[in-house]
Amino acid sequence: SPHFAWRDGLLHVEQLRVADLARQHGTPLFLYSKASMLAALDAYRRGLRGRKSRICYAMKANSSLGILQVFARAGCGFDIVSGGELQRALAAGAKPRDIIFSGVGKTADEMALALKTGIGCFNVESEAELDVLDGVAAATGHIAPVSLRVNPDVDAKTHPYISTGLKGNKFGIAHDAALAVYKRAAAMPHLRVVGIDCHIGSQITDSAPYLDAMDRILDLVTAVEAEGIRLQHIDFGGGLGIDYKGDTPPAADALWAALLPKLDARGFGDREILIEPGRSLVGNAGICVTEVLYLKPGEHKNFCIVDAAMNDLPRPAMYQAFHGIEPVSQRKETATTYDVVGPVCESGDWLGRDRDLAVQAGDLLAVLSAGAYCMSMASNYNTRPRAAEVLVDGDQAHVIRERETPADLMRGERLAP
Ligand code: LLP
Repeated sequence: SPHFAWRDGLLHVEQLRVADLARQHGTPLFLYSKASMLAALDAYRRGLRGRKSRICYAMKANSSLGILQVFARAGCGFDIVSGGELQRALAAGAKPRDIIFSGVGKTADEMALALKTGIGCFNVESEAELDVLDGVAAATGHIAPVSLRVNPDVDAKTHPYISTGLKGNKFGIAHDAALAVYKRAAAMPHLRVVGIDCHIGSQITDSAPYLDAMDRILDLVTAVEAEGIRLQHIDFGGGLGIDYKGDTPPAADALWAALLPKLDARGFGDREILIEPGRSLVGNAGICVTEVLYLKPGEHKNFCIVDAAMNDLPRPAMYQAFHGIEPVSQRKETATTYDVVGPVCESGDWLGRDRDLAVQAGDLLAVLSAGAYCMSMASNYNTRPRAAEVLVDGDQAHVIRERETPADLMRGERLAP
């Protein structure tokens, strides 16, 4: 990426040297490029140019306030999945109308908060949820705007844990049942049907499942509207993949260039298009900088023990995910093959396996593609304070999250009398 580049053997984020930032702020340290995020957003904007559309950043990918602020200022909406995310989005400057609420397990309290806030839409995932939402809206004197999340039953061909559009999983309303549920929803007094929604999975690197899903969704739009239920918007979810290891996902603008003719051909070109991208907006806009603590040669494996761990970067442990790992300052020595592991007391605590690295203790490594689903999934396991985060904007560095302290981690705990 142009925003993370080695110049004279030294890794830079935009115009700043990573090693300088690490010295100043300590490690592990997340560094983000604002320009990289805005460039990713621009690709969607180009793809949707000339259309009525709203880009609702799926904030679960990275919900740090300073990141949300970048997207709020750029005019994005937000896709939230909890009352906590709602409060974060508002704290970062989101407009309530531009917030949509996804998730299979919204509580009545979360619904009440979202109604009071005046969010744009609830993406409802079951009939039972529809009943509860109608009840909460009645009790609080609101009309809830709803969209049904439909499961198009297409195979996104991604990791089973992050594939969501097939029949066998917990998300969405079955395609076959959707028409009947729309009729019920339209008849409920405290609901207003405004759209349709789908999301088929995450880290999708092929256009085919998207094209299939669009056909399936447009079949339903036709059927629902034949019943006299008008759908103002079509929400096509998120899921577009990024390049972790030579992956070649379609560019966002190219993907939409292929999808839009389908809408037009079916006569739905005038509908507002909503999308919920997460990873593709932030994933390659962040790195995690970590210091090599020890090199530990072994009979079968050599270990490179670093100060970041599965609590900071859970994706390798959880999904066997690959993240590039590169020295922040390149050395001329020949490389040795290491497993890069953290200090956490679990064999699953690895960040990369069989990586060829020329490193010494004290060197800095950059874990790449760490902008999405890293900090937002970080934990305090082993009472490890979460890392600091810095947002780089040209030659400026802004601390958007201070490093946690052990005192932060014990807040709210009590010794029994
Ligand atoms: N909309 C809905 C309803 C979702 O469930 C998700 C992600 C998104 C949008 C955004 O998807 P994206 O554009 O980021 O692919 N922790 C996993 C990814 C879980 C994705 C969950 N849902 C990982 O680290 O790979």
